[in-house]
Amino acid sequence: MTPQHICRFRQPVVALAGVLALAVSGCARTSAAPADAAAADGGKVTVACGATEEWCAAMAAGFTAATGVKAEFVRLSSGEALARIQAGKADAEFDVWHGGPADGYAAAADQGLLEAYVSPNAAAIPDRYKEPKGTWTGVYVGVLGFCANTEVLKEKGVAVPASWQGLLDQGLAKNVGIAHPSTSGTAYTAVWTQVLLNGGSEDGALAYMKKLHPNVLQYSKSGAAPAQQVARGEVGVGVVFSHDCVATREQGFPHLEVSFPAEGTGYEVGGVALVKGAHNPVSAKKYIDWALTPEAQEIGPTVKSYQAPTNPGAKKSDKTVDLAAVKLVEYDSVVAGAAKSALTRRFDSEVAQAPKE
Ligand code: G6P
Repeated sequence: MTPQHICRFRQPVVALAGVLALAVSGCARTSAAPADAAAADGGKVTVACGATEEWCAAMAAGFTAATGVKAEFVRLSSGEALARIQAGKADAEFDVWHGGPADGYAAAADQGLLEAYVSPNAAAIPDRYKEPKGTWTGVYVGVLGFCANTEVLKEKGVAVPASWQGLLDQGLAKNVGIAHPSTSGTAYTAVWTQVLLNGGSEDGALAYMKKLHPNVLQYSKSGAAPAQQVARGEVGVGVVFSHDCVATREQGFPHLEVSFPAEGTGYEVGGVALVKGAHNPVSAKKYIDWALTPEAQEIGPTVKSYQAPTNPGAKKSDKTVDLAAVKLVEYDSVVAGAAKSALTRRFDSEVAQAPKE
């Protein structure tokens, strides 16, 4: 992998404009910071951000608006974030990792890449959404589902899939979009869900993924990309977090339909964590404290990110899936994380190679 460097640029403080994030291709985006924001650690924070680009930009801007601390981010899928944090072990590129499924964080913690930090604000987060020593804390919950293009499926004479078995329908040959589990936390959630549905058997999970393979048009790098493929009609169905389908539908694709598999489905706890060796640990802790507040967790829906907040004090969007209404598997991010490196390596060699781009 070619190392990418963050472009560190500063935005002048602009009256009225507040904290507009700048879009600069290939560079981290920076939100403006007031001149007096410098803290002992540099008064800034660099975030490896694992959710959508819009969510990441809104979070960076929201943090700066709330604290005056400058924030920059790089959007990275789960496997890429883990690789970049690993690569920066001797000289940390990031201070904080925010967003993306917690099993990636658990894998990073197992490799000694995260610094335990129990934020005082973590007390508000239910135990099932945090690691007790503070290596990561949950900020949102997303449920894995199917995203169907009803027009494409109608043409093919295939019903909207209602089960994992249904996704294997030969009528869906080359018509399923899913990301690759080596790069994408979404796709790894799908693979680990198969482990759980196969009584804990990794062989069983890979056997299912091999059966699905002829139906997969392409394994994308990022987890939300298949929703776009579905919207464009390139495939009939995507395996994505359901909120990514809802967001894509809102971008002008009303014929997208969410369904959940009858056998049960997996879910993510999106994390936040302090990177070991962070150059700006004071600002990083401030960022983590803030990310756990209701205020921070209510930002998602303003940029069409409808995950459920983990802080019970945060208002839920009425577009957020009702977790109690979906049959969920017992997903343990720590167990899933411990298995991640070996299982994704097996996927690479036994099912499909990771995408290059
Ligand atoms: C999207 C979803 C997030 C999820 C992330 C995982 O951004 O909205 O809820 O955490 O995908 O990304 P990845 O590319 O690793 O699958």
